[in-house]
Amino acid sequence: MNNTIKFVLDDNIAEIDFSKLKDLKPTTTVLNYLRSLGNHKGVKEGCAEGDCGACTIVIAEPGQNGKLNYKSVDSCLLFLPMIHGKQLITIENLSQRKNGNTVLHPVQEMMVNSFGTQCGYCTPGFIMSLFALYKNHSKPTREITEDSLSGNLCRCTGYQSILEAAAACKKNSRDHFSEKTETTLGLLNEINYDKTAIMIETDKQIYYRPFRLDDALMLRKYYSNAVLINGATDIALKQTKKNELLAEIIDLSGVEELKIYDEEENGFYFGAGMSLENLKAICEKEFPALYDILKLFG
Ligand code: FES
Ligand code: FES
Repeated sequence: MNNTIKFVLDDNIAEIDFSKLKDLKPTTTVLNYLRSLGNHKGVKEGCAEGDCGACTIVIAEPGQNGKLNYKSVDSCLLFLPMIHGKQLITIENLSQRKNGNTVLHPVQEMMVNSFGTQCGYCTPGFIMSLFALYKNHSKPTREITEDSLSGNLCRCTGYQSILEAAAACKKNSRDHFSEKTETTLGLLNEINYDKTAIMIETDKQIYYRPFRLDDALMLRKYYSNAVLINGATDIALKQTKKNELLAEIIDLSGVEELKIYDEEENGFYFGAGMSLENLKAICEKEFPALYDILKLFG
């Protein structure tokens, strides 16, 4: 247990020691952290409550089959310790410098070619959602494309040209991230090797992030008043909108045992920590009616 979190940013392991960086607290959002850096200001705050998508970033984490899973998320609702052991990808990481020139990522190029931007405020968020789509689907249907952009709002360009930009995702999904997969996985495995629960203690807050169910249950026993979070899309609003102090938090989002899915004779078992997105993926085949509802839920 310590006061430190680690994650991959700009192809290196970044470390935040909360006992040294007094401006950061465990409930500082990833959005505010990125905006505090000199070179990651492309991410924007629109609503600070998970509605507009201007703050969209992409998180990559080791998945099965030795691959990285890419997921677009609202950074305005993500507390810093939640990115421990993951790769944080922002709009600044998409283009590359080659022979003194900037080479755009295919989704950026398509956004330019389809005139998918006007004032530009929403654009980094849209591009990050498109990037996640690009990494996850080589031939996305119209439905998948619309779904993946459903968390992003634009108030001036209109959506048609942005949907046209999604055509980039129908091409080869290889890019410079694919080339660095092994290196990135190596860095993430180095961080994730240690499964000791993280404890961050500041003057006014205490934040626990266990990785094993046993540790989570033990923490729950000793800190029975602590707020439990998993995705934190509800609790984070207390911080971002009401400026409430969350004094004790147990963050369960790192406990894999709570994300299980099992099919048994008597029924299906879904772990309480499974994300709605993962539940939706299972339901598509098993419970089509529930799948249709989940598409509209949350
Ligand atoms: S700022 Fe609007 S969703 Fe995050
Ligand atoms: S380009 Fe202006 S809000 Fe989307």
